[in-house]
Amino acid sequence: MRYVVVLLCAALAACGEVEDTRPGRPVATRQEAFKAILRAFEPMGLQIREYAFEPVSFMDHARALDRIKDTPWEYFGEDTQYPPSKSLDRLWQERAGFDALQDDFLRSTGELVIAAESRDEARIRAAWTAVETTCRDCHKGYRR
Ligand code: HEC
Repeated sequence: MRYVVVLLCAALAACGEVEDTRPGRPVATRQEAFKAILRAFEPMGLQIREYAFEPVSFMDHARALDRIKDTPWEYFGEDTQYPPSKSLDRLWQERAGFDALQDDFLRSTGELVIAAESRDEARIRAAWTAVETTCRDCHKGYRR
């Protein structure tokens, strides 16, 4: 359910909001990167929540997520807090906390691939939940 809400907000943002016209479009680019991450992540969530586990397709999504896991972070440079950013100012004020959650995300995403390759459903569930926790914790702390 939570992800339906996220998707809806992303769709609304695409039609209703300020355009990022700065050189390199850092804010828009990181938002697009997160949308791609959600598109890789959510199909795994459906399988997990509906107890409809499909090992091969799950593995494909886990690998797709792993391939793009690095994409948003370089666009959080200094002076990139302007509309349409939905980040909180504290991301830049408490950068160490944000960076630590980013590391957790990168590590747990790698572990999800290894779990997916094991085809052990209980292990995969735990690994998926670990990734989801990093999304949630970071959004709670650093996103509006
Ligand atoms: C280390 C922090 C962090 C992690 C981990 C993280 N996010 Fe985010 N996410 C953010 C921040 C900050 C924003 C707001 C970006 C902005 O607008 O400046 C965001 C924005 C988003 C958006 C909205 C993009 C838009 O169009 O506005 C989606 C969707 C999203 N994240 C999905 C995810 C998913 C799914 C995961 C986990 C698989 C995840 N994020 C992990 C920090 C994080």
